[in-house]
Amino acid sequence: MPAAGTPPPALSAAAIEIATRTPTPFYLTDEAAIAAAATYLEAAFPDPWVHSYSLKADPLPEIVALIAARGWGANCVSRGEILAARSAGIGNERITLEGIGKGPEEISEAIGAAASGAPLRWVAIESADEARAFVTQIRTQGLTLRAPIRMLIRLNPAIEPGTHDGLAVGRASSKFGVDLRELREAAAVLAAARTSCELIGIHMHAGSQLRDMREWQRAVEQSLAAYADLVREGLIMSTSHQAYGTLCVGGGEPVALDGSDDPEAQAQGFRAAADAAWSAATGPTPVVRAIEPGRAIVATATHLVARVLHVRQRTEIIHGTLALPGDTETRCEWQVVLDTGMGELIRPALYGARHPVIALRAPETETHVVAVHGPICEATDTLGAHELPRLLKRGDLVCIAGAGAYADAMWSPYNSRPRPARILLGANGIRNIRERSAETS
Ligand SMILES: Cc1ncc(COP(=O)(O)O)c(C=O)c1O
Repeated sequence: MPAAGTPPPALSAAAIEIATRTPTPFYLTDEAAIAAAATYLEAAFPDPWVHSYSLKADPLPEIVALIAARGWGANCVSRGEILAARSAGIGNERITLEGIGKGPEEISEAIGAAASGAPLRWVAIESADEARAFVTQIRTQGLTLRAPIRMLIRLNPAIEPGTHDGLAVGRASSKFGVDLRELREAAAVLAAARTSCELIGIHMHAGSQLRDMREWQRAVEQSLAAYADLVREGLIMSTSHQAYGTLCVGGGEPVALDGSDDPEAQAQGFRAAADAAWSAATGPTPVVRAIEPGRAIVATATHLVARVLHVRQRTEIIHGTLALPGDTETRCEWQVVLDTGMGELIRPALYGARHPVIALRAPETETHVVAVHGPICEATDTLGAHELPRLLKRGDLVCIAGAGAYADAMWSPYNSRPRPARILLGANGIRNIRERSAETS
């Protein structure tokens, strides 16, 4: 059986060929893998479910365009992501804006779009303060809106999402979304500015890498209950409710890079939980249902191709999630340092996320367990314990799997390193979709 995360043979061959003319590290994306992931998500959430791709996972316009070509919209958290979505060919009617940190630029984008008569699909408001900021900026910007800005309010579902602490945004204590008291406050602010801000529903995202479907269903149920209350209280007008009443249930579909997942079954599980929540709802329910996954579409499609810089014999104990699967700690007798690390893939340092590391060109020999590290001057710049060929040496190519989501998107120039090239392997062959940058300070 191939090791977890092993790239398809065509991708390995392409990586080896590209490395003859492109400096490592580089990101290599398999277009077919994106199509396969989008296909199973579309099957689990067929039309009329609204599909938006969360650009935060990977906002490169060429990648976004592949997803947009299937009819997906773009879920954005910043003006920069809105611009990336537009340059991928997505019109405002398929762009949504959410995010904990909307500043004047983001608010201005939403106002400008509504003033031009091509409003964003919706804006998800994070707090009562943010609702007030929108209303104030609409007034001070002085533009006449040709269409109101359609708004959702992001509910904090106050559940225990059963994921890494760093991804558990649906917890009551997290900084994300409003509780029921603040929901009413924000809704009242928008109701008082109805002609420019039309409240049409609820936005909810319980967290990422979600695996507890009972808790997620509870989050959807709470969102539906909150929606019904807003309709009953007239804070969502009945005309808005009937025409566009919306619940966006966020993203969060998990991806296990060790291959232990059945992503299709998982997506069906999310859908079943959503259906169960809708069936259990007693009040008015939204007519529009939306999802906005990021990771599940792109995570496994991109591999980070790198070279070995040095190999040395040294004992090192790797603990926790970066140990070999099944170990709580792994004793490594060798260390390998690669020319890529936390700058290009911060997830191991940030969340202890384990990404398979696979030798591409080393001769097929015995393997041994090595501690694999990056080149950055931080002890946390490590990829953990991996089984690699014994004869691995400087210059050999390796491939790090699962570098499609929150990898290049979180790239950092720390140590003044260049941003790697992005290369796409598609039906029409190999295409360079971003040149390697110069060294950056
Ligand atoms: C509001 C919201 N929607 C969607 C997503 C995408 O999540 P994922 O990549 O886990 O699908 C995120 C991720 O942070 C988010 O905060």
